[in-house]
Amino acid sequence: MDIKGKRILVTGASSGIGECIARELARAGACVVLTARREAKLGAIERKIVGAGGRAWAVSADLTRPEERERLLAEARRAVGGVDVLVNNAGFGWYGYGHRMSWATADEMIRLNVGATVHLTLALLGEMLDRNAGQIINIGSIAADLPAQGIALYSATKAFIDNFTTSLYRETRGSAVHVSLVKPGPVKTGFFTSAAAGHHSVAIPGGGLGISPEAVARRVLALIRRPRKKAYLPWIYAAVPLAELCFSKIIDALGPFLLKRKYSPPTG
Ligand SMILES: NC(=O)c1ccc[n+]([C@@H]2O[C@H](COP(=O)([O-])OP(=O)(O)OC[C@H]3O[C@@H](n4cnc5c(N)ncnc54)[C@H](OP(=O)(O)O)[C@@H]3O)[C@@H](O)[C@H]2O)c1
Repeated sequence: MDIKGKRILVTGASSGIGECIARELARAGACVVLTARREAKLGAIERKIVGAGGRAWAVSADLTRPEERERLLAEARRAVGGVDVLVNNAGFGWYGYGHRMSWATADEMIRLNVGATVHLTLALLGEMLDRNAGQIINIGSIAADLPAQGIALYSATKAFIDNFTTSLYRETRGSAVHVSLVKPGPVKTGFFTSAAAGHHSVAIPGGGLGISPEAVARRVLALIRRPRKKAYLPWIYAAVPLAELCFSKIIDALGPFLLKRKYSPPTG
C-alpha cells in the first residue's frame, strides 16, 4: 500500500511508540489523525507535523470510554472523511503482584488495552471490507508469549490482542483488507515509568533497555507498504514462545525471586 495520502488513525499518539509512528507516517505523506488524552501534547505534535508540511489532526479522547471512542471516529470522519488504516497502539502496563492491583486499575487496563482495540476495530473493519481496502495494525507485545510474574493482567491483555488479531487476519484473507500484529520486546519509552507508578521502588525487568520507538515506527510503515501477518521486534523474539515451551520450569523458578527481592509481598 502506498502511504502517501492515506488517512491513518493512530491511538496513543501523544508519546512513545505512537508519537513516532504518527511522525514517520506524516513524513511519508499520510494524513494522520492523532489521538490520546493529553490535549496539549497532541496539539504540539500536530503543530510540528503541520509546520513541517505534513497533514495531521489531533483529537483528544479517553479511549477507556466507549462514548469517547465513538466521538473520536465521528471527528476523524468529519476531519478527513474516513480511515484507511487504523493503528491500535494505546495501552499501558502495571508491574507488581496481581493481588496488589486494584480493580479500578485492572478495569482501566482491560477497557484500554482490550476494549478500545476491539471497539475501534469492529467499528472500522466492516467498512474496510465493503471498500475491499484498508488495514488494521495492532500493537501487541512479547509479554503475550511470556506470562511472567509481575505482569499478569498486562500479558493477558496482550495475549487477547494476539488471538483477536490472528483470527481477524485469517477471516480477512482473500480480501484486500489486511490485519497485522506487531510484537515488540522492551522499547525505550515512558511505558516502564508509568507501569511502576504508584508502587514501592520497583525495578522492572527490561526497563531502560530495549529498542527505540523509531525502530517500531519504521516496522509499522514497512507493514503498511508490504502487509504481513506478524512482526516480532527485534526478530529474535520470535523464539520466545519456544523458550516458554521449553524452559517454563526455569521461568517459574526465576520470576518470583526477582519480584520478591524488589517488591515486598503484603503481610497479614
Ligand atoms: N515500551 C515497551 O517496552 C513496549 C513493549 C511492547 C509493547 N508496548 C506497547 O506499545 C504501546 C505504546 O506504549 P509506549 O511504550 O509508547 O508507552 P507510552 O509512551 O506510555 O504511550 C502510551 C500511549 O497511550 C496513551 N494512553 C494511555 N491511556 C490512554 C487512554 N485512557 N486513552 C487514550 N490514550 C491513552 C498515552 O497517552 P495519554 O497519556 O496522553 O492518554 C500514550 O500516548 C502500548 O500498547 C504498549 O503496551 C510497549
